[in-house]
This record gives sequence, C-alpha cells and structure tokens, in this order.
Amino acid sequence: MATGESCCYCVKLLVLLITFLHRSSFLHAHSNTSLLAPQRETIEIGVGTGSGTDIGIGGGGGGEGSAPPLSTCGCEPQPSDFLNLKQYYAYIVIQLFKKTITCDPNNVTQTWVGYRPCTYQGFYCEAPPDSPDTPTIASIDFNGFHLCAPTIAGFIDKLPDLALFHANSNNFTGTIPDLTGLQYFYELDVSNNNMSGPFPNDVLPLANLTFLDLRFNLFAGAVPPSIFSLDLDVLFLNNNFFNQSLPFNLGSTQVAYLTLANNGFTGPIPRSISNAGSTLREVLFLNNRLSGCLPYEIGLLSEATVFDAGFNQITGPIPLSFGCLQKVEQLNLAGNLLYGNVPDVVCRLAKTGQLANLSLSGNYFTSIGYSCWELIKSGVLDVRQNCIPGFPDQRRPDECWWFFTHPRHYFCPFFHYIPCKCPVAPATPATTKAMQRPAVASPPYMAYKALHQRHGK
Ligand SMILES: *[C@@H]1O[C@H](CO)[C@@H](O)[C@H](O)[C@H]1NC(C)=O
Ligand SMILES: *[C@@H]1O[C@H](CO)[C@@H](O)[C@H](O)[C@H]1NC(C)=O
Ligand SMILES: *[C@@H]1O[C@H](CO)[C@@H](O)[C@H](O)[C@H]1NC(C)=O
Ligand SMILES: *[C@@H]1O[C@H](CO)[C@@H](O)[C@H](O)[C@H]1NC(C)=O
Ligand SMILES: *[C@@H]1O[C@H](CO)[C@@H](O)[C@H](O)[C@H]1NC(C)=O
Ligand SMILES: *[C@@H]1O[C@H](CO)[C@@H](O)[C@H](O)[C@H]1NC(C)=O
Ligand SMILES: *[C@@H]1O[C@H](CO)[C@@H](O)[C@H](O)[C@H]1NC(C)=O
Repeated sequence: MATGESCCYCVKLLVLLITFLHRSSFLHAHSNTSLLAPQRETIEIGVGTGSGTDIGIGGGGGGEGSAPPLSTCGCEPQPSDFLNLKQYYAYIVIQLFKKTITCDPNNVTQTWVGYRPCTYQGFYCEAPPDSPDTPTIASIDFNGFHLCAPTIAGFIDKLPDLALFHANSNNFTGTIPDLTGLQYFYELDVSNNNMSGPFPNDVLPLANLTFLDLRFNLFAGAVPPSIFSLDLDVLFLNNNFFNQSLPFNLGSTQVAYLTLANNGFTGPIPRSISNAGSTLREVLFLNNRLSGCLPYEIGLLSEATVFDAGFNQITGPIPLSFGCLQKVEQLNLAGNLLYGNVPDVVCRLAKTGQLANLSLSGNYFTSIGYSCWELIKSGVLDVRQNCIPGFPDQRRPDECWWFFTHPRHYFCPFFHYIPCKCPVAPATPATTKAMQRPAVASPPYMAYKALHQRHGK
C-alpha cells in the first residue's frame, strides 16, 4: 500500500534517509538553527482506515523552528528572503490561493504568513529527489480544515514538487486541475467537498498515482475505462453522480479497495472482474442502478473479504461459483431481483470459509440450501422479504406471483460449474464458525468506512 509509505516521494525509505541527511547537512552549512529542536516529522494523512497505519512523512524541512524573519521594509518579498527559490514560488502560489478562500472557520490561514511556507499549517516540506538541497512543499494535508474556495486550480497544479494533496471535508468547488506537470504526484484526496463536473480525466496521465479518493462530491457522467488501467491501490468514487455503465475493463484494476457505491451506475457487473481476482479485497457496488445477471466470474475473486452489490436491479440466480469465495466475510446482495435457490455451497462458506454476513433480503428467492437453515438461526443469513414458501416475513403472494409471471428483462444462464474444489465441511459441524466466533466488533472494513464522509483518525 502506497498509503503506508513513509515518504512523500515514491522513492521510499532509503531516499528518505538520504534526504534527511541532506537536509541536516543543508541546515548545518547554512544556518545555526538548532537541529535538536523538536520538529514535527510525521503527520497523519488519514486515508480512511482509521487504523493509524497510514502515516506520511511531511518532513519539516527548511529550517523552521527559528522565527520567520520579518520584513523590515514593507516591500514585496524578495527571493532572497526565502530559504530557496522553490519556496519563494510556493509562497506566491499559496498567497494567491489564500486570497480566494471565502471561509476558514478554524483560522488555519492565519498561519500562512511570513517567508517560511514550510511552517504554514497544512503544508509539509521535503527535498524533491532531483533536488536534494532544496526542501519545498511536498505534501498538503487540509483534512478537516473546512476551508471554502471556488477552485483549487491555480493552486495545487502550480506547486511542481507536490506529491500528496489531502483535503477531506473542505468546501472546495470547481473541477480538478490538470496535474500532469507534477512529476512526483501520487495521492489525491478531495473527498467530501463540493467539486463537480465530469470525471477528472487529467488525473489519468499521472503514471505514479496510487490513491484516488473522489467520494462525496458532485462528479457526474461516465467513468473512463482507463482509470482501471492505472496502478492504483485505492479507488473511492462512492457518493457522486456517476451515471453510465461500468467500463468493460473494470477487472483490469489493481486496487484492493474499490468503492463505487451510491452513484447511478448502470448495466451489468463486467465479467472481466475475475481479472482482479488476486488483488481485489473489498468491492462495493452498493446502491446503484446495476442490472443484468451476476457473472459467475465473481466467484473467482479469491481474495475478496467484502462483496456488496446490494440495492441494484441485478437479476438471475446466484452462480454456484460464489461457493469459491473462501475469504468472503460480508456478502450483500439484498434489494435486487435475484431468484431461484440460495445455493448450499454459498451457505457452507460460513463453516468452511469466513462468511459472517449473507444478506439476501428483498429479492425473489424461492428456496434455500440445506446448510442455509443454520445460518438463518444464527443470524448470518437474512432472507426476509423473499418468496420462500412457509418462511416468516416474506413478500406477499401477489408480489411474488407478479414477478414470476412477468417476462424478465434478462435470461440468466445458470452456471452449475464450480471453479474451485469445494472444501469439505469439518468433521464436527455442530455449530457454524460464526456461532463459535467470539463476539467482537466487526473488522474495520476499509470500503465500508469510505461510506462515511469523514476520514477516521
Ligand atoms: C547564529 O548564532 C549566532 C551566535 O549564537 C547568532 O548571533 C546569530 O544570530 C545566529 N544566526 C542565525 C541565522 O540564527
Ligand atoms: C477564529 O478567529 C475569530 C476572529 O479572530 C474568532 O472569533 C474565532 O473564535 C476563531 N476560531 C477558532 C476556531 O479559533
Ligand atoms: C456543499 O455545498 C452545500 C450547499 O452549498 C453545503 O450545504 C454543503 O455543506 C457543502 N459541502 C461541504 C462538504 O462543505
Ligand atoms: C460551501 O460553499 C458554497 C458555495 O461557495 C456555499 O454556498 C456554502 O454555504 C458553503 N457551505 C459551507 C458549509 O461552508
Ligand atoms: C514517477 O516517479 C518516478 C520516481 O519518483 C519518477 O522518476 C518518474 O518521473 C515519475 N513518472 C511520472 C510519469 O510522473
Ligand atoms: C448523466 O449525467 C450527466 C451529467 O449530469 C447528464 O448530462 C446525463 O444526462 C446523465 N445521463 C443519464 C443517462 O442519466
Ligand atoms: C449484514 O450486512 C448488511 C448489509 O451490509 C447490514 O445491513 C447488516 O447490518 C449486517 N448484519 C450484521 C449482523 O452485521
């Protein structure tokens, strides 16, 4: 995970050390600022795990710790007032942006004064790899600042050494500027703002981008197929207004966490999803307008712990391949148009796999496999509001009758093929795994956390 990286620049620890040594010698040679003064070397960049594992280093570089020199003549700042030319240019860009800020409830921008931009709240400096003696703005962390500005264009795109921009819970509007001039850029988080327009296609040429979080904004329209060809770790697009069909090449994605929930995506889940079988850990299609049949390729997501396609218009039976989801813990297909039998092999995953929650309520299932009975009793399986004869809390007979007498939009093939060796149930299956499991709080699923507006800290 790039988000666990310890350096703003993708060059990782070794270069960090080198950078650090450089910085130290830089300070020794040019000033007598105390290196012993405590400097804030690590910042939490809160990428939504809330687990504290996502630490970025925003090196304090640039000799802060000494009071910023004051202008004695009241004239415009000169390059010589700054530690280096990069910081001078950064200063100009930041001051221009500051003038556009229309609200700042935490008074953050009050600290954006003087000739030491590395000391400004929200800004972190580090020497870029190609210029190890020149610490400058390498990362920006505005998470939770609640700043308002009409646009971030002319700001982040004008800081050429920027590697990270995190701005969760601000009130920035406008579109995402062209960042292709930023050669080190790799993390963009503008979640929970008021940014709009189409998908920001200008992020697509960013070959080093690893983290893209656009959730809780007003982006609309199509998501370009090429986003799934980037080597991202995290792609959060939930809670926008994306409204086209999912790109056919969705499975080309390298991400572990993919949240497309709460948009208006249409069309079927692409069969290419199986190409992501070795990397995809959590995927949320929840609450869109997806249709079509469940492709049997979903069963090939051998690393998936969360698969959630609830509240869409997906129809057909559950393919038996779902019995291969050995690691799945949360499987949510509630609120769709699914029908047929709830496969025994899927319910068996509670014993042979990790299944802890199988939500199938609000569909049109008519029967359940033998192993499913136990799961209903233990609360793992929810089949309320289906069409299962003799079960409590089912749909009214006329609703079921209506569904089954109307021609369905899709003919879904039923895949009997199980593309894995079904594990044998343990010898003494007296209770399910879920029942044996101690009552602990459910694991911190990264994708479900993304459905909340704020970053967990
Ligand atoms: C460096 O230290 C000397 C002596 O302690 C002091 O007079 C001078 O102002 C310091 N220079 C800076 C740039 O802090
Ligand atoms: C910000 O500054 C204003 C005016 O100086 C003050 O009234 C307000 O309490 C400050 N807010 C915070 C969060 O410090
Ligand atoms: C977005 O704008 C709306 C209305 O202008 C406002 O109510 C909402 O708080 C804004 N969102 C954020 C994250 O500031
Ligand atoms: C967010 O910005 C919009 C547009 O500038 C403004 O109308 C709204 O009041 C702001 N909301 C908050 C919570 O600051
Ligand atoms: C990606 O990062 C590497 C290493 O920092 C750098 O050499 C390269 O120029 C970057 N590539 C792009 C397209 O930004
Ligand atoms: C999708 O959203 C765009 C932008 O808001 C809109 O112009 C378009 O009509 C929408 N398309 C559909 C099919 O809803
Ligand atoms: C199971 O998952 C559904 C859908 O995500 C959720 O609403 C429900 O609260 C979960 N049940 C338990 C016991 O965790």
